[in-house]
Amino acid sequence: MAHFKPPNVAFTQMAGTGVFAELVGGDGEFKYYSDGEWKKSCSGKSVPIINPTTRETQFKVQACTQEEVNKVIDAAKTAQKSWAKTPLWKRAELLHKAAAILKEHRNPIAECLVKEIAKPAKDAVTEVVRSGDLVSYCAEEGVRILGEGKFLVSDSFPGNERTKYCLTSKIPLGVILAIPPFNYPVNLAVSKIGPALIAGNSLVLKPPTQGAVAALHMMHCFHLAGFPKGLISCVTGKGSEIGDFLTMHPGINCISFTGGDTGIAISKKAGMIPLQMELGGKDACIILEDADLDLAAANIVKGGFSYSGQRCTAVKVVLVMDSVADALVEKVKAKVAKLTVGPPEDDCDITPVVTESSANFIEGLVMDAKQKGATFCQEYKRAGNLIWPLLLDNVRPDMRIAWEEPFGPVLPVIRINSVEEGIHHCNASNFGLQGCVFTRDINKAILISDAMETGTVQINSAPARGPDHFPFQGLKDSGIGSQGITNSINMMTKIKTTVINLPTPSYTMG
Ligand code: G3H
Repeated sequence: MAHFKPPNVAFTQMAGTGVFAELVGGDGEFKYYSDGEWKKSCSGKSVPIINPTTRETQFKVQACTQEEVNKVIDAAKTAQKSWAKTPLWKRAELLHKAAAILKEHRNPIAECLVKEIAKPAKDAVTEVVRSGDLVSYCAEEGVRILGEGKFLVSDSFPGNERTKYCLTSKIPLGVILAIPPFNYPVNLAVSKIGPALIAGNSLVLKPPTQGAVAALHMMHCFHLAGFPKGLISCVTGKGSEIGDFLTMHPGINCISFTGGDTGIAISKKAGMIPLQMELGGKDACIILEDADLDLAAANIVKGGFSYSGQRCTAVKVVLVMDSVADALVEKVKAKVAKLTVGPPEDDCDITPVVTESSANFIEGLVMDAKQKGATFCQEYKRAGNLIWPLLLDNVRPDMRIAWEEPFGPVLPVIRINSVEEGIHHCNASNFGLQGCVFTRDINKAILISDAMETGTVQINSAPARGPDHFPFQGLKDSGIGSQGITNSINMMTKIKTTVINLPTPSYTMG
């Protein structure tokens, strides 16, 4: 194995200091957030967070108990009642305040992302700024869409006179449980918190272990904005201790989860409550003969390798027409050669993957492809959790990498002889998040988009969730429901109707 020595880059504003000092106990462990206060768990136990680059313990967070979860949910229930009665404009005002505080403190939060999940420094800052913008947009969108309702009259339905007026409005669901993944512990937390709060709900956040400290810092920005006690809280700890307890808790009225196939297990165990789930993808990139190959190659590299492929919307399989495959592979190889590889502090393109077990899993897929005869466009190289970017050509359907999500910097290329073959491969996947097609023929692109069984198809660009107000959804095992700011606000409400019954049809006078 090649030797990899992480450098030690200092950040100007440090995590856990200044306004964030109260998050840290005397023992250096991070506290959890409950009822408007930072607390130590009475378990006396903590969970270590391993820095993916150094592979040493970077932080420790509280291992909360079930009793502490009960308290948090009780407080959320109580706080939600008065929050729902708080004028919509005031809720929006507080969200705008939290967004500004979040953006102001982007550096220490980004520092956590660098150390906990090895996100490249610039991308880490972008995640926090994007999150602030998302929260502000939620406030604005909420004021518009929750300020409107419907008015229906009864005589449009056969047999009715106009004796009933029906008024509809949107009311909150209650307590929302938000579970974001490690790859966007801040952004995919606020994509749940913003819609929940503007719609009048309270929220309990269970952050991923890797990324928990970034999430705690983000939570403190909401605390500093002055949200009522108990309305939002953040419990940390082991999934084995509090995971099922949270998701099956009778006090939870909705679960918004982003992550892996744990979501499928959650959906089987959760009660009769609305679920919003995004569980990954195997996003296919179909390249036609008339495609702009430079554009396609640039998007394949950006889509496949940004954040080392650890995005559910990453390009995860390239399906290229055989006649242009050699040319495309050459272009992609040239771009892969320019990717920088190293520590996130240096803002390298390819950084260590989140855990050693992820790196081992990725390596398993690579070795399977090797054994079955895939063409390696680069030498396979790994040092600790760091895996050098790898393009695998001539991948065939009998290889695991053709179907499984590596969540790492390894990208398979399958050569196809017809568009139908590409669509067939895409649709044979158990995932259906996004896909993309590169062609200069818009008519063909639309036909292919309609044929691909995915929640979104991008024409001439790599898959991506944003901009954050666009609808975002997966078919099949990729998820339940649709996200994006507007859809999430709607999903976190239910319709309430009031019917005014008139003694005579309203049009009888005059
Ligand atoms: O990893 C899942 C995220 O929802 C992907 O978001 O397309 O902005 O990277 P992104």
